[in-house]
Amino acid sequence: MASIEEPAKERAAREAAGLVQSGMTVGLGSGTTAAILVRRLGERMREEGLRFVGVPTSVATAELARGLGIPLRELDEVDALDINLDGADEVDPQFRMIKGRGGALLREKIVACVARRRVTVITQDKRVSRLGQKAPLPVEVSSIGLQHTERRLRAMGAVTRIRMGPPGVPFRTDGGNAIIDCTFAGRHEPEELDGLLRSVVGVFETGLFLGLCDLLVVGTDDGVEQVPS
Ligand code: A5P
Repeated sequence: MASIEEPAKERAAREAAGLVQSGMTVGLGSGTTAAILVRRLGERMREEGLRFVGVPTSVATAELARGLGIPLRELDEVDALDINLDGADEVDPQFRMIKGRGGALLREKIVACVARRRVTVITQDKRVSRLGQKAPLPVEVSSIGLQHTERRLRAMGAVTRIRMGPPGVPFRTDGGNAIIDCTFAGRHEPEELDGLLRSVVGVFETGLFLGLCDLLVVGTDDGVEQVPS
């Protein structure tokens, strides 16, 4: 049971880990919140004999889960996921989200799309009135012709920045793709922006996760709230 002394992120992650039941196939998200959650699932295996199969959304999550003895499958080895548990960077009042500031967005979206129940775990500060207020929108693009794709995004009005990895080298996702972080002046409806961005040659996915949250688990200053969408 989470206590009031635990930080909000820890509380929310532990609550979300409590949604997993024996026999489930579980999407395991990426990022710091997902890491806490995966560790808690490892604890539940040891303490309660919980048995489930995990489908990781990144190499980092797979390594963490494997180290904890969690049995893993690749997405194509399972028909569907019972539940997907992942973090997010921003969530608006319509449960639309921005994800991908950790760089795993394409795989995270593919996994979320095959889950029967999608659970997003955040702290209260990630709830925003409008997406894109806090930081740029990550867009996963082909590393081939990266600068050409960036020019196309600029021509659409985006202020762009190619995400960097080691000094002087563009960041690479687990799939070998690049990320361009985009900022847009003015207001854009997320659905419209998502469609526009995905029409650009070279763009594989955007960090806009729309219609992919069934339950929000929010760590607050003194507790945890579950908010169904
Ligand atoms: C990873 O690519 C992201 O989508 C993360 O899920 C998101 O950035 C939330 O990460 P934190 O839990 O570390 O804030």
